Amino acid sequence: SDVFTYDPGFTSTASCESKITFIDGDKGILLHRGYPIDQLAEKSTFLEVCYLLLNGDLPNAKEFEAFDNTITNHTMVHDQFDRFFNGFRRDAHPMAIMVGAVGALSAFYYDSANIDDPQQRIISSHRLIAKMPTIAARAFKYFRGQPFVYPRNELSYSENFLRMCFSVPAEDWKPNPVLTRAMDRIFILHADHEQNASTSTVRLAGSSGANPFACIAAGIACLWGPSHGGANEEALNMLAEIGTVDRIPEYVQGVKDRKYRLMGFGHRVYKNYDPRAKVMQQTCHEVLAEVGHSDDPLLKVAMELEKIALNDPYFVERKLYPNVDFYSGITLRALGFPPEMFTVLFALARTVGWISQWKEMIEDPSQKIGRPRQIYTGAAARDYVPLDKRG
Ligand code: CMC
Repeated sequence: SDVFTYDPGFTSTASCESKITFIDGDKGILLHRGYPIDQLAEKSTFLEVCYLLLNGDLPNAKEFEAFDNTITNHTMVHDQFDRFFNGFRRDAHPMAIMVGAVGALSAFYYDSANIDDPQQRIISSHRLIAKMPTIAARAFKYFRGQPFVYPRNELSYSENFLRMCFSVPAEDWKPNPVLTRAMDRIFILHADHEQNASTSTVRLAGSSGANPFACIAAGIACLWGPSHGGANEEALNMLAEIGTVDRIPEYVQGVKDRKYRLMGFGHRVYKNYDPRAKVMQQTCHEVLAEVGHSDDPLLKVAMELEKIALNDPYFVERKLYPNVDFYSGITLRALGFPPEMFTVLFALARTVGWISQWKEMIEDPSQKIGRPRQIYTGAAARDYVPLDKRG
């Protein structure tokens, strides 16, 4: 019979060719379309990075204006969407709502199933980038039991999102430039990361020719797990559980005894450091200073934990370093989000990466339906025995 290479977790199998994102895990390098992540995080905006990932090059001023207008035009969701939302339990986890709500977009935009039409592919991409903040903010408001806030198109992408999350009717909401910039930077840091589990899920789902909105919903489902996007929520829960610096040694011992993992630590590809984590740590300090939480006890725990782990042979030998999610939870909490929203924000940002990768795959003539093989280890062929004859 056929013999296949066994590669659990795909640690040495390339599933596609891609021009979007480059990672060198040993050197800690991350490039989007050739541009280093730290330059994009410092100088660019999330919407510009969306254009870059989707189209291959940075836009000129005219192209950017047109893109900004298009995205702004698509921010609303159909009014019937409210009925769909109201079907969820009032305390539904916002990620559960996201999986369902984004999948449901495939019913609202059924034409998007026509993936052979290049125009439909572009419109679906724009709709997703534009509507994710609206849906994510709705999931948040629903979770809080507050009325939805409609998008405001004169605001920037991140201003509009923060306003939809935090403005309360009858109160005057004013954007804070430091916090808006931090939100935008967090989105940039999560925008794409080549063939991670959720992106591979989107590609695999899309390889059968499925509706793109349904494919993105599959990506959201995969992202939810604590080994992937769910790590930011778990990392903050872990810091809260440790609580104070004096309890760190006991916790680290538990990690060594394999009772639990250090959440926000380690990465399949980065074995030196995660270049996103550096920017995230800096953003964390900026946000905490802005909201007057520089003495946040969890920040102290995080910094001390990082120091101890980076000097401990257990973590050094295994090349375990803080990843992007180690400091993102503290930052997002300071921005006003509860832990249940952290992975939703990751999904919002990663949507552009997913849809860019999906589009690249659909437009790549060498791609076929994804169909891994297996090493069968079950029973050999045997004859059926009637129920009354079985011992
Ligand atoms: N804490 C303690 N030990 C760890 C950790 C950790 N966070 N991560 C890996 N190890 C150990 C693991 O026990 C193993 O040790 P040994 O060789 O003695 O058995 C060794 O390191 C290799 O681990 P692995 O599970 O083979 O590594 P992997 O490449 O399959 O896992 C990972 C990568 C990210 C799933 C893992 O590091 C992890 O579970 N980290 C915590 C969750 C987390 O922060 N995830 C977010 C990743 S970044 C955001 C994203 O892209 O989603």
